[in-house]
Amino acid sequence: MTQLGQSITRLDARAKVTGAALFPGDVNIPGQLWMKVLFARRPHARIKRLDISKAQAAPGVVYVFTARDVPVNEFGLGSKDAPVLNNDEIRWVGEKVALVVAETERQAEHARDLIEVEYEDLPPITDPREAMKPGAYQVHPAYPGNIIKHIPIRKGDIAQGFAQADVIVESEYHTPYQEHAYLQPEAGVAYIDEAGRVTVVVGGQWTHEDQEQIAHALNLPLEQVRVIYPNVGGAFGGREDMSVQIILALAAYKLRRPVKIIWSREESIIGHHKRHPMWIKHKLGATREGKLVAAQIELISDAGPYMYTSPKVLGNAAFGATGPYEIPNVHVDAYTVTTHNIVTGAFRGFGAPQAHFAAETQINKLAEKLGMDPVELRLKNVLREGSLLSTQTPLPGGPVSLPQVVQRCAEEFGWRARRQGERETRRQGGAQHATRITGVGFACALKNIGFSFGYQENATATVELYGGAEIEKVIVHHAAAEVGQGTHTALAQIAAAALGVPIEKIEMIVSDTAQTENAGSVSASRMTYIGGNAVKGACELALKKWQDEERPAIATYKYLAPKTTNYDPETGKAKPNLAYGYVAQAVEVEVDTETGFVRVVRVTCVDDVGKAVNPQMIEGQIEGGVVQAQGWTIQENFQTKDGHVLTPNLSTYLIPGILDVPEKVDSVILEYPDSDGPWGVRGMAEMPFIPVAPAIIAAVHDATGVWFDEFPLTPWRVLDALRRK
Ligand code: MOS
Repeated sequence: MTQLGQSITRLDARAKVTGAALFPGDVNIPGQLWMKVLFARRPHARIKRLDISKAQAAPGVVYVFTARDVPVNEFGLGSKDAPVLNNDEIRWVGEKVALVVAETERQAEHARDLIEVEYEDLPPITDPREAMKPGAYQVHPAYPGNIIKHIPIRKGDIAQGFAQADVIVESEYHTPYQEHAYLQPEAGVAYIDEAGRVTVVVGGQWTHEDQEQIAHALNLPLEQVRVIYPNVGGAFGGREDMSVQIILALAAYKLRRPVKIIWSREESIIGHHKRHPMWIKHKLGATREGKLVAAQIELISDAGPYMYTSPKVLGNAAFGATGPYEIPNVHVDAYTVTTHNIVTGAFRGFGAPQAHFAAETQINKLAEKLGMDPVELRLKNVLREGSLLSTQTPLPGGPVSLPQVVQRCAEEFGWRARRQGERETRRQGGAQHATRITGVGFACALKNIGFSFGYQENATATVELYGGAEIEKVIVHHAAAEVGQGTHTALAQIAAAALGVPIEKIEMIVSDTAQTENAGSVSASRMTYIGGNAVKGACELALKKWQDEERPAIATYKYLAPKTTNYDPETGKAKPNLAYGYVAQAVEVEVDTETGFVRVVRVTCVDDVGKAVNPQMIEGQIEGGVVQAQGWTIQENFQTKDGHVLTPNLSTYLIPGILDVPEKVDSVILEYPDSDGPWGVRGMAEMPFIPVAPAIIAAVHDATGVWFDEFPLTPWRVLDALRRK
């Protein structure tokens, strides 16, 4: 009877394959107007004069909005520190200056270009390390010294730790931006619904947070704002912050007519945040036997001018900077810093990929220095049951399966034999004659589930049971955003399993603030775990009412996850996270020494997901995560100059295509149950991304003898390094 653990067909598969599924850009309302945004397109400037008269008089124009039209002109997820529309000091290229609403999109675009703005350009600060220096220009009044947040972590005695070290590895790493490049750029339509609510149909990750931010900016009570997500063409963290939500609502509310917008790819790339670039100084010490004794790390992330999710990402990065290892003496200083660069925020992994790149590359370098197999070195040091994190607390939530995950990955990949094989080939001079040389690399990671750091994780669901003697129909109300990851299918499977009914009986009412309660964000690999517990709890309550002969039996349940605590401001001591997932990866790459091309041949990815609700969807997450991270590592080259974006299109910002993906990704799913996840579920969607960069970098080193401390591994960077060698 239970549907849990079966790879049933996704609920949205048919509609998506046939094209019947509507995405925000496909939703049209009779009589709708069109909106275009005037972006500042300059990183730092003061607006001296803003004249909208010509635009207002242009054909078809209904209204031109500026800052004066926004009732409470501020928004932001972490802090409402950004203006919805800016008529004062411009702090990044994607700042919105005005909105034109017209009868047609062409007319809106035409009128937008008639808006006259006189700017006084000011020098931009584009290097966070410069921004941190005393006397630097203050980017945002709320952040003196340009530091949004500093997280120190102090464990043990760092000086004593390094005194015990026989070997020390010191490096400076830099990780690049990344653009989410989801299938559909930002789009949506807003209107006044039959109950008089300003309603926004849009893509996002958290309906109720969008609702809150819209209500705040429009100065409306929550219940007068409604947010609906139809199908969403990918998110990956990039839809966590506001893009078109508030501006659509503002226009529909003011004009009392439906208003639609579809951003071009270029507007999307300019207009939403990116993955944080980070600068990481990492010093790691170990004994001759390969026992880690000390780690000292300074990590700086470029936030752009506004907070967005930067402190949360920083929290994860500070935590991840020591990798998935138990290290007795730790000293971390992590900073997120304002600049006039493009804003940065959530992107799959939430800071963990950047931090693990440094930590795992350090381990791989250490293995080389010690003359030890990198898998061996990991097994000596990975976190296990009872280990203390850098935050001086143990890991909650069931078996700490890192040793098993690492071991299994090495076995499945055939690590020892293949590594020997590569060495043998090179020793025999095989590689000297070939222009294509291969190498293998290994990395592992842990990923927290949920928002962590003291946030009381929660989600609410409602379940209705209909029928007589038997349950004939089940309606599940749930706000979880389906952004392509399959959450609606997974939650339906959880409901079916909790009720003991076939999946066909489950109907879902989803992602509409008027019909569902807060489920939180589809972020931080949290929804199957936290939203799943809400659905499971609501099912159990409804079932009890059903057994008491209530017809229909209706129950609402709010799941409250185990508590976490924030970093102590001096020592970083904390119980930072409520649960974890564990992952290890081995990759084989081929480097063309003539062209500099790096090709990923094969990847083995082992993930402890606690319980696989739908194994095929998990394989999809693994393959997608691997390819997305491969793009970040090898080819995606987001370039900026003096705060301007030089790669605002997918013709210049190259993401992996079908010819770039690995020949084979072996997905291995392990199930060591978490103590609080539904049926042991651990969240998993971010995990497969995290070890990819360090594993590829190690494999390229194995092939070429060169360590790359920064990427992407574009052909010219690779060739340049090979030549210098
Ligand atoms: Mo995701 S980076 O947790 O929105």
